[in-house]
Amino acid sequence: GKYRVVSTKPMPGTRWINLLIQQDCRVEICTQNKTILSVEDIIALIGDNCDGVIGQLTEDWGDALFSALSKAGGKAFSNMAVGYNNVDVNAANRYGVAVGNTPGVLTETTAELAATLSVAAARRIVEADEFMRGGLYEGWLPHLFVGNLLKGQTVGVIGAGRIGSAYARMMVEGFKMNLIYYDLYQATRLEKFVTAYGQFLKANGEQPVTWKRASSMDEVLREADVISLHPVLDKTTYHLVNKESLAVMKKEAILVNCSRGPVIDEVALVEHLKANPMFRVGLDVFEDEPYMKPGLADMKNAIVVPHIASASKWTREGMATLAALNVLGKIKGYPIWSNPNSVEAFLDENSPPPA
Ligand code: GLV
Ligand code: GLV
Repeated sequence: GKYRVVSTKPMPGTRWINLLIQQDCRVEICTQNKTILSVEDIIALIGDNCDGVIGQLTEDWGDALFSALSKAGGKAFSNMAVGYNNVDVNAANRYGVAVGNTPGVLTETTAELAATLSVAAARRIVEADEFMRGGLYEGWLPHLFVGNLLKGQTVGVIGAGRIGSAYARMMVEGFKMNLIYYDLYQATRLEKFVTAYGQFLKANGEQPVTWKRASSMDEVLREADVISLHPVLDKTTYHLVNKESLAVMKKEAILVNCSRGPVIDEVALVEHLKANPMFRVGLDVFEDEPYMKPGLADMKNAIVVPHIASASKWTREGMATLAALNVLGKIKGYPIWSNPNSVEAFLDENSPPPA
């Protein structure tokens, strides 16, 4: 191959590799037995001749790496992630390196995990599982692991982009919840969906669901029973949920985070969980991954999973393929691709796209 493309991690599927090879690239995959590569590790991988890199959200793509990539003749970098808070896009611009991410292919998978955590928290699934395995079950009791009924409650969404909107639809349609959301942009299609579903329920003699666009984030925190966070992480959303905002939430609310850890002040969250045993959280992301703040792991009212929201086979293969297409597109002189619709054609037939 004429072009050298480096992937800092082995990625799922083979389609992404084949695509690159068919298009005159030679692919080098780092197989170093180390979960997170340092800047130095990646500089060594880039070497002095590299056309493009596919990297991971755990890597610090700043001045040092874009400078090294540009010196090696590189033109393109793609994060294998939709979030790119680990990428200094200004630095990339300074060195003339195009940056891509992988939106679209992970929307439903990520929303499904947020829904899973919401329901698991409402029904205390992890606590109940531990109880069972711990040999503590002595027979049915009227008050054993009583949780929350979601039907008729209000689901709150902070950040109603692709993922937040998909999550909202799942909770509204699946559990007949009312919706309140906060976003700088109006989620028109989501609003229309809830209106139409409400009319459908009404026509069937059921209580219709409703929606409301909040004028502040606090309005969502105050009114919602289940709140899921879907903002982009940047300076404006760092510690968006802190001591003060936790205090306005209902004592029995459920908070879910599948976005980025620093959106929540995790120390304040641990204090809040201790003071409010009926308050529950489902967390996929943490402030200092891979670590949890002291005390969090001991809280029965917290469900914690290791950043797996996009972890379905279809999505991870799609992310890898999209990341490869981003780099390839730039090398071949096209603008950075990041078009999810172009990916489906390249995926395995035995791993069909969702309907
Ligand atoms: C995963 O966290 C992503 O941003 O894709
Ligand atoms: C990310 O894909 C989003 O817009 O929610």
